[in-house]
Amino acid sequence: MTLRVGLVGAGWVTQHHLAGWATLGERARVVAVADPSEAAREARAASFGIPGRFADAAAMMAAGGLDAIDVAAPRAAHADLVRLAASHGLPVLCQKPLAPTLPEAEALVAELGGRVRLMVHENWRFRAYYRQAAAWLREGLIGRPFAARLSLVTSGTVPDAAGRHPALDRQPFMRGEARMLVAEVLIHQLDTLRMLLGPLRVVACRMSRTCPDMLGEDTAVIGLEGPDGLGVQVFASFAAHGAPPAAGDTLEILGPAGAIRLDGDALTLAGAAPRTERFDLGACYAGSYAATIGHFVDRLADGLPFETDPADNLETLRLVEDCYRLAGRDDAR
Ligand SMILES: NC(=O)c1ccc[n+]([C@@H]2O[C@H](COP(=O)([O-])OP(=O)(O)OC[C@H]3O[C@@H](n4cnc5c(N)ncnc54)[C@H](O)[C@@H]3O)[C@@H](O)[C@H]2O)c1
Repeated sequence: MTLRVGLVGAGWVTQHHLAGWATLGERARVVAVADPSEAAREARAASFGIPGRFADAAAMMAAGGLDAIDVAAPRAAHADLVRLAASHGLPVLCQKPLAPTLPEAEALVAELGGRVRLMVHENWRFRAYYRQAAAWLREGLIGRPFAARLSLVTSGTVPDAAGRHPALDRQPFMRGEARMLVAEVLIHQLDTLRMLLGPLRVVACRMSRTCPDMLGEDTAVIGLEGPDGLGVQVFASFAAHGAPPAAGDTLEILGPAGAIRLDGDALTLAGAAPRTERFDLGACYAGSYAATIGHFVDRLADGLPFETDPADNLETLRLVEDCYRLAGRDDAR
């Protein structure tokens, strides 16, 4: 039976959602889209052949004929949209962050009490190179990691020759978010590091902002600790002069028997059985949305837990919240 999906939000990210849903063929079909922006919903509906078009999610759900909801609206609307779907008994795949703050997400999860199936759309951890790194770690090929370092350095918020900021042109809503780099972007890397390394705790965080056109931070340096004395550093900035306008993650994980390094399209394993695998980064990006959506549909079908279920995701949100707290910015909303 084809899963009939209602998409909430028709903004930038939904080009990737809809391409992801399309990879599932007969297993699922996006049959309706809701967005208050007529231009946005009509554009997506026309490009992806979506028959149902609504100005608001409540009307879309009230119209019936849906088996699941995909929430891709701005973060401030997520919790209420999840509540709305739950009131119709519909399973939900909700974009990150589940709510703007940890307390709001905790309140939502407590209120739902497991009544409705909810998965948080954390696609970074589904990228093919991170799944490969996870497989090497699980096989014990480098032993228990004792140090890890992830960096993401771009010039996305440095004005170019025309005075434009590439990251803000790409996703204009980033200008107005008081919680920006960590809540919007590094939430993915923090979630992925948890997937790779196990439970983590933030021990220090410093944030800064150089771009006057945005409300939130565009740099964060984060110190974390993990199991068995593991030390982890996240070094991230969109304000790095001379760096490319957009870039991928660079990662290094050291273990007693080897090391794993991600640099550009190369994932390298050092140790007793060294090897390098190369990835098509564009395909990994698109594929991460398809894999996330595929996981949602697979787990709905077999009833097994979602990898990024609410309990798991609250751990990622806890790391995000602790970053703002330790940077003295916990009042940012
Ligand atoms: N997983 C990822 O890699 C990734 C990447 C980008 C964005 N996102 C997330 O996706 C979400 C949307 O981001 P975006 O870049 O598409 O933003 P966007 O600003 O481009 O689009 C948001 C859309 O939602 C619509 N909208 C606003 N309120 C709504 C409501 N109540 N109901 C329905 N639609 C509503 C707006 O009209 C707009 O068309 C955010 O939560 C963001 O964090 C995730």
